Amino acid sequence: MYDSTTGGTPRSDTGKDIGSRYGDVRGAAPAAAGSAAVPAGGAPRAVAVGVRDAVKVHGSGDTAVRALDGVSLDFPADRFTVIMGPSGSGKSTLLHALAGLDTLDAGRVRIGSTELTGLSDAALTRFRRERVGFVFQSFNLLPTMSAEDNILLGLHLAGRRPDRDWFDVVVGALGLASRLRHRPGELSGGQQQRVACARALVGRPQVVFADEPTGSLDSRSGGEVLTFLRDSVRDLGQTVVMVTHDPVAASYADAGVLLADGRVAGRLEEPTVPSVLAALAGAGA
Ligand SMILES: Nc1ncnc2c1ncn2[C@@H]1O[C@H](COP(=O)(O)OP(=O)(O)OP(=O)(O)O)[C@@H](O)[C@H]1O
Ligand SMILES: [Mg+2]
Repeated sequence: MYDSTTGGTPRSDTGKDIGSRYGDVRGAAPAAAGSAAVPAGGAPRAVAVGVRDAVKVHGSGDTAVRALDGVSLDFPADRFTVIMGPSGSGKSTLLHALAGLDTLDAGRVRIGSTELTGLSDAALTRFRRERVGFVFQSFNLLPTMSAEDNILLGLHLAGRRPDRDWFDVVVGALGLASRLRHRPGELSGGQQQRVACARALVGRPQVVFADEPTGSLDSRSGGEVLTFLRDSVRDLGQTVVMVTHDPVAASYADAGVLLADGRVAGRLEEPTVPSVLAALAGAGA
């Protein structure tokens, strides 16, 4: 279980949040993907990421694996959604397709108003750099660069000027202000993953995708990262889609989607540890 003393308490945590610590950052948050504002009265939220009829086959011949077998889903803007399911159910394959890191054999992916399917490699790369953030289990930081340079690398590659006020908000929220000159090797695993989170958010992406971001972390560090991801949605207007098979990690999210054998096997609103365990048991995990 994540250590509740770190502020990493799922769902029930009503402690300090980024908004209260950093003033009116909500107003400074990026417009939600493809969004008309959500009207008062509970109309459906804008869709940040949509996938239709996704099919992906890994390998060929006798060893071919149908990792995605007709997946159609909408991920709402300004929400924290988790993708869950047994090992091998297609979670990473789906996330990579949603993020434009891999192509589908059939089906379509849309982020905001942009259809990824059919974009040229160059256009897709540009779109990813400008509009998408990633957090991976293995951090993927460059070891010879400082934390600050790692955080800003994507913006530099995209030829974009950093917004220093926003940089300060993100770095402050992640508690990294005193670590910016350190290289990854001089940081703990949790600090490295927080650098990776800052790198993902500093460009104000339409969506942040995370694949098992706490899989390499101890429970305390994992709780800090999950709390930050949740607060980035609640207080900064970020949209987050995270893969996990950890019910505690899933309980930080607003909603969950369950995969089994490359298909959608269920949905959960406001997942809790018991509801996730029950859903996973039903999916044969
Ligand atoms: N590059 C690949 N070549 C061949 N098969 C692959 C490849 N990548 C994934 N697969 C297979 O596709 C299926 C789905 O894999 P995927 O990595 O999406 O599962 P996952 O749900 O993320 O699992 P885990 O929880 O273990 O990370 C699995 O059967 C896997 O063995
Ligand atoms: Mg995976």
